[in-house]
Amino acid sequence: MCGIVGYIGKRPATDILLDGLRRLEYRGYDSAGMAVVHDGDIRTAKSVGRVANLAQAVGQSRPSGTVGIAHTRWATHGVPSDENAHPHVDCQGGIAVVHNGIIENWETLRRGLESRGHVFRSQTDTEVLAHLIEEYASRLTLKDALAAALKDVIGTFGLALVSAAEPRRIYVARRGSPIVLGLGPKGDEFYVASDPSALVAYTRDVVYLDDDELAVLSDVGVETTTLDLVHREKPITKIDWTMEEIERGRFPHFMAKEIFEQPAVAANVVRGRLDAAGGRAVLGGLASVDERLRKIERITIIGCGSAAHAGLVGEYMIEEYAEVPVEVQLASEYRYRRTVLDPEKEAVVAVSQSGETADTLGALREAKARGALTLGIVNAVGSTVARETDAGVFIHAGPEIAVASTKAFLGQVIAFSLLSLHLGRQRRMSAQVGERLVAELHALPQKIEKILQQDAKIRALARKYSGYGGMLYLGRRYNAPVAAEGALKLKEIAYVHAEGYAAGEMKHGPIALLDRSFPVVALATKDGVYAKMRSNLEEVRARQAPILAVVSEGDEEVLRLADDVIAVPRTIEMLSPILNVIPLQLFAYHMAVARGLDPDKPRNLAKSVTVE
Ligand code: M6R
Repeated sequence: MCGIVGYIGKRPATDILLDGLRRLEYRGYDSAGMAVVHDGDIRTAKSVGRVANLAQAVGQSRPSGTVGIAHTRWATHGVPSDENAHPHVDCQGGIAVVHNGIIENWETLRRGLESRGHVFRSQTDTEVLAHLIEEYASRLTLKDALAAALKDVIGTFGLALVSAAEPRRIYVARRGSPIVLGLGPKGDEFYVASDPSALVAYTRDVVYLDDDELAVLSDVGVETTTLDLVHREKPITKIDWTMEEIERGRFPHFMAKEIFEQPAVAANVVRGRLDAAGGRAVLGGLASVDERLRKIERITIIGCGSAAHAGLVGEYMIEEYAEVPVEVQLASEYRYRRTVLDPEKEAVVAVSQSGETADTLGALREAKARGALTLGIVNAVGSTVARETDAGVFIHAGPEIAVASTKAFLGQVIAFSLLSLHLGRQRRMSAQVGERLVAELHALPQKIEKILQQDAKIRALARKYSGYGGMLYLGRRYNAPVAAEGALKLKEIAYVHAEGYAAGEMKHGPIALLDRSFPVVALATKDGVYAKMRSNLEEVRARQAPILAVVSEGDEEVLRLADDVIAVPRTIEMLSPILNVIPLQLFAYHMAVARGLDPDKPRNLAKSVTVE
């Protein structure tokens, strides 16, 4: 959550910082601010609300300094306001800090600093950093002061700092919140960001900081050390994203663009990974652990939100096709239960678009510490989950900017189908079953295109349903998690209360909600539980609740029961979530638009949740 960007070079920093903030706005958008070093002074500007407000506040009188840091905020401590926006400065205004993460012992630190005369201006945890560094800097060099201050801190940080005393330097440090450094192509400009999407317009060469590392950016380069100031040599990574991938193009919102990218995503996830003749998946990212995978007798999948829903689909897939027992655990719960884990026989699969979700990382580290084989299903290539897992499968969905996950969910589910195929063929799955699955995976992009062609129809349906205050989403077996995913999309961007349920559970409680004013969205495609699903819809019909059903092309029976239907092409049941989720994504998107909301920036949310 929150976005950081910083620049040191030859050009005025302000425009580069504002551009970086606009690209990072999806990380947090309740306020924004920047600090530019100008004629030996620190000039700060802050504004509550979007980056556009900050740009307006900076106006024509922008400082021409060529060193600066900036931040877009998602509030944790203190309401969104000008005072609480970053950067935060020390008493003299000579040190400015932007920070992602949470300083857990901030109250204790603040009390101590106040008792020693420091005057605070905000309610944030971050401001203690500026004052603490100021205090140490009275007797140490700035670098030593930063390292000393960070020793006093309990919590997480990705931070950047500028100081009037060292006007040609930016200091950065990381523990728990991502930081990436950008190296300008001519060697005379350097960048820092919390996310590579802020850097793509300027450079492709980046260095990812690891936890407990510190870096100093100057006019001549980047020096990296541990927080104990021991030198660290860091590899340079190439970002392969294109500018088109991080821009909205012809679409009104990133969410729409990302939904429409899904045929390409379905092709990318499987590209070079399917052996049609052998009915196998070729997963290079798992090659190093293949022998260990053969012996695995149990899998735990961890993730949050949509990633956890993808994991639930994966659970059905792996159990059916590879016959390995699977359990899905919410990452936020995993660490706090007494999980029984046999490191010899268990693999833990962390699923994450960003690869930076604090809860997922925490759970992953717990599993690693206990000796489990850890795998990642990740989108962001240089991310922490990708780097900390033993092996994994990248989904190659390209940058996902909209807060609501769409193409990443789709990529994760397809990655699970590849994993199931791989594990299945290592065990008892026949080549024939494998071949069928490979053929169906190849056919997905075209089928997804067909669903997207119904966009106008789904928009009209969304308008029709946009006045309802709540909805129940129902699905069975593979599509029970899809119901949960559809409901999550609706609540997070359209602010309509929605519950996703396994349809069989409806009669155990939620049916009490149903009447004419409470629609049901049903996943009723032709599969092994189709007849059961139809019976559930009869029960809904009897309560006179409106029904919007996702059905298989050519199905006449559900037509009789439902008020509205969206037809999707047929596929094997295992892959049906990949097609069935798309109408639900479009429906939520159009509901948000119909209700006058910005689907890309839902209230109270941010793209990457890097706090617990
Ligand atoms: O980056 P991750 O996949 O780890 O993110 C997990 C969740 O925060 C994420 O899926 C969230 O639930 C989305 N907003 C859902 O659309």
